[in-house]
Amino acid sequence: MKILAIETSCDETAVAILECNGNETNATFAVLGNALLSQVEKHREFGGVVPMLAKREHQKNLPHILDEALAEANVPLQDIDAIAVTAGPGLEPALWVGINFAKALALVWGKPLVAVNHMEGHILAALARQEAPSTKLEISNKLQAEKLEIKNVKMPVLALLISGGHTELVLMKKWLEYELVGQTRDDAVGEAFDKVARMLDLPYPGGPEISRLAESARSVAAPEGRGFTLPRPMIDSGTCDFSFAGLKTAVLYLLKKNPDLSEKEKQHIAHEFENAVTEVLWKKTAQALKETGARTLVIGGGVSANTHIRRVFQEKMSSEFPDSSLQIPASSLTTDNAVMIAIAGYYRALRKEFSADFVASGNLSLAKRP
Ligand code: KG4
Ligand code: ZN
Repeated sequence: MKILAIETSCDETAVAILECNGNETNATFAVLGNALLSQVEKHREFGGVVPMLAKREHQKNLPHILDEALAEANVPLQDIDAIAVTAGPGLEPALWVGINFAKALALVWGKPLVAVNHMEGHILAALARQEAPSTKLEISNKLQAEKLEIKNVKMPVLALLISGGHTELVLMKKWLEYELVGQTRDDAVGEAFDKVARMLDLPYPGGPEISRLAESARSVAAPEGRGFTLPRPMIDSGTCDFSFAGLKTAVLYLLKKNPDLSEKEKQHIAHEFENAVTEVLWKKTAQALKETGARTLVIGGGVSANTHIRRVFQEKMSSEFPDSSLQIPASSLTTDNAVMIAIAGYYRALRKEFSADFVASGNLSLAKRP
């Protein structure tokens, strides 16, 4: 089945075309076309994503991105079997652009439509492994298509979803059935990265910038300069819930007390902030792994691109949970993209969950507490 997927939930305009085969427990995906335009430069001067600007940019760029993906795939629209589009969560004005476009395409070309939950896209994309290069599929125009597969997944799966809008621990005991294990009580972790970056006069998006500074501090064996200590909020709360607002405020106070920081001192703050976030994320995830007995841990969402978080989770999983496996998405699949929407769209299409009648849902949730 060929799926054409559209993602416009935030500041990435993306279209992907995937050839999908198999069933829930053993599925393969050939990425035939994958076009993506990031609006990050447009939003940078505002220090964050401006919803109406995002909407305008999606409207302007989506037709070109569709053409690009179709040309790369060398597949005419009539050969597409289903259209998948992100219905939420995200910025509603931005989501509507993708949804209206997908509905129009589906109507004109007579194709079934699938509404996708963006967070399900992050989870399933994290479960997808890249096939070895030697087995890459040769497609008609002689390009090499990236091939992904979801198979041998050990249930239950615990997902740590960390993005600009979400910080959640979600359990999947059976395919596509989710329970909420823990979530942030205030800021999302990506939001904390972005706000702290702004305090340090770093450009938007702040996550990669903080990570860059922190890595420079880490590369110094014995860092000089003032020792900065930040709290690890709720680390011993005994629940799997998070809080990052206090950590952000602690950075604010620290900066007020220490104006005119040198570049080195900024690096130390970024380093301490990244350590604090990572320790809290790991402690809560470890507790959730113990409580749920999950056999697979996946990390999804934009913050899962963070080098330190990836490294710590890899080390801790093999030392503390050697019988469970960790799956982190390929770096091209960590931040928002349409490949993940196509994968989730295929899983929903396998269950015949087609609908032409749905709306943008900014707060669409994936999981409730059991
Ligand atoms: O999933 P995503 O692309 O969009 C949302 O659905 O929110 O996540 C974006 C978030 C931003 O807050 C960004 O700062 C953060 O992911 N991020 C990172 C890194 N790369 C992106 N945070 C920490 N370290 C990174 N390397
Ligand atoms: Zn996302």
